[in-house]
Amino acid sequence: MKIGIILGSIREGRNGEAVAKWMLDFATSRKDENVEYELVDLMDYDLPFLGKTPTEDQAKAIGAWSEKIASFDGYVIVTPEYNRVLPGALKNALDFLKPELTNKAVGYVAYGGLGGLSSIQSLRLINAEQGMASVQTMVTFSLMTDFENMSIFTPNDYHAGNANGMLDQVITWSKALKTIR
Ligand SMILES: Cc1cc2nc3c(=O)[nH]c(=O)nc-3n(C[C@H](O)[C@H](O)[C@H](O)COP(=O)(O)O)c2cc1C
Repeated sequence: MKIGIILGSIREGRNGEAVAKWMLDFATSRKDENVEYELVDLMDYDLPFLGKTPTEDQAKAIGAWSEKIASFDGYVIVTPEYNRVLPGALKNALDFLKPELTNKAVGYVAYGGLGGLSSIQSLRLINAEQGMASVQTMVTFSLMTDFENMSIFTPNDYHAGNANGMLDQVITWSKALKTIR
């Protein structure tokens, strides 16, 4: 069972890197039997806007992105909130995918001024259209209380409960959905 932890922010100076690394460390430290976690950083894929003719390098990036995402049985998407929804770069990257994601489970980790919940709600709509099953339990970090000066990630301990719940659900549903793929 392979679970991809996707970092959906590509902004220079992004807070997302610390959040995604925390999530990877947290998940790995659970030592889930027969489950491997891997961080996928959207920044590593120089995707063009969907519909623009890609350069040779961008065409390779599109192929690599598709192949990497297809290799997982389930996902955790780590996303900030930009103007109440997911970042445009993440939406664009998701628009390149569908068969890679169909009949797979996804859980969410969000962060933002007030926890990034609206970003998760927007992602649920997109992922549902891609044939995914999104789990109920979410992890939401607030810039006000889980970051120092809104830039140094200092997550409160109580998030561990939701992180465990979310991962348990992603693993259970990933196992179940594997049987119908
Ligand atoms: C363009 C933009 C729009 C934003 N809109 C929201 C918002 O609607 N709600 C919110 O809680 N935070 C909002 N924020 C704050 C971001 O969630 C916060 O800066 C977060 O750290 C961004 O993630 P990143 O640092 O990984 O890029 C916004 C930030 C940017 C850059």
